[in-house]
Amino acid sequence: MFIMYLYNGADVSALGSDHSRSHTIAGIVLGFVAGILLLAVVGICVRMKRRRRTAATLGVIPFASHRNNEYKDDKDWELPLFDLGTIIAATDNFSIKNKLGKGGFGPVYKGMLGEEQEIAVKRLSKTSAQGADEFMNEVMLIAKLQHRNLVRLLGCCSQGEERMLVYEYMPNKSLDAFLFDKDTGVLLDWQTRYNIIEGIAQGLLYLHRDSRLRIIHRDLKASNILLDKDMNPKISDFGLARIFRGDETALNTRRVVGTYGYMSPEYAMDGVFSVKTDAFSFGVLILEIISGKKNRGVSISEHEGNLLAHAWSLWMHGNGLELVDKSISHSISMVEALNCIKVGLLCVQESPKDRPKMSSVVLMLGCKDASLPDPKHPGFFPTRASSKTESSKSKTNSASINELSVTIVEGR
Ligand SMILES: *[C@@H]1O[C@H](CO)[C@@H](O)[C@H](O)[C@H]1NC(C)=O
Ligand SMILES: *[C@@H]1O[C@H](CO)[C@@H](O)[C@H](O)[C@H]1NC(C)=O
Repeated sequence: MFIMYLYNGADVSALGSDHSRSHTIAGIVLGFVAGILLLAVVGICVRMKRRRRTAATLGVIPFASHRNNEYKDDKDWELPLFDLGTIIAATDNFSIKNKLGKGGFGPVYKGMLGEEQEIAVKRLSKTSAQGADEFMNEVMLIAKLQHRNLVRLLGCCSQGEERMLVYEYMPNKSLDAFLFDKDTGVLLDWQTRYNIIEGIAQGLLYLHRDSRLRIIHRDLKASNILLDKDMNPKISDFGLARIFRGDETALNTRRVVGTYGYMSPEYAMDGVFSVKTDAFSFGVLILEIISGKKNRGVSISEHEGNLLAHAWSLWMHGNGLELVDKSISHSISMVEALNCIKVGLLCVQESPKDRPKMSSVVLMLGCKDASLPDPKHPGFFPTRASSKTESSKSKTNSASINELSVTIVEGR
């Protein structure tokens, strides 16, 4: 068809004046029709090709490049990119007086954008070997995660060696500042604590189930739960575990003091992590919120240093409510408190497969009719080595924990 069109075209231009008019007109018409047919064929070919490419994007192209396309296609969505100079001005060149704390991935500074907007800047440690493109790609994805129980990312800064994340500022700081302090702990009445537990569960469920990323937090702890002006909990530091892959991360996460008490046995010992690792940390968090005590490092009369052992012991003796922080006993709902303690104990069970997923946890927190399964023995380190020789050598507290675990596990 294409050749015929060319021939007719040549015919028209070269021979038009010599031949009869009707012949010329016939040539023009023929050429015109052929041209339209050609365009139609080209059109069909292009469309077929495009369809094939769409199929490839959906199925054949590896996940990574599919993710790359994801934010580039989003033309009306953009994450603000802050200039290093702006951040330096906002934080007074990372002045020590603006330092809010140190997370697992670097220090956090308070800053002021202009006169009004307060921000929190996380300056990521320079040890990460991550390139600028990879950093930006990950940050773009994290920034799209929006939930009322996650701290909102406002923007980022990637300049030279510097990688920074800019978050909304949380006026009431982190949960641990309230929880483990006698004076401020009173400010968290039962309703507030219950609201915080539910909020964290919702935020975690969102991270775990979001089809785009499926983030496992890996460092859930009281100091990573920030509180907004109405004391709503917001999980922070999510997604950074994904950004920082490789050995540095693992080292860093393990080095953070205080995190140890939140790590599930399989993660602490074998480095295995899953959504159930987060469930374990969440269980510890529930028990800490209810008791106002840290899992590790705080002396608890007979079971010093380990809140899980203490909670388990009280629960097995039918004294679960004794776990509740004395400073909130006036505002407590017994049914809710017992239900929360039970959910907490279910989350910290030794075997990951016994622990509920966050979707179940959210349902369990809502159901107050005590129809939950009975928790099995929690996973805490002193009892993991089950040999009798070790228990006789260890200090009284872990010996009593061992004793407890043996009698109760065998009795059930
Ligand atoms: C910020 O502080 C660093 C050292 O901590 C210094 O080298 C740099 O010049 C300072 N920048 C500004 C803009 O003051
Ligand atoms: C939380 O922050 C808001 C705003 O800064 C403040 O008004 C409120 O008193 C704080 N709540 C507590 C319990 O400190």
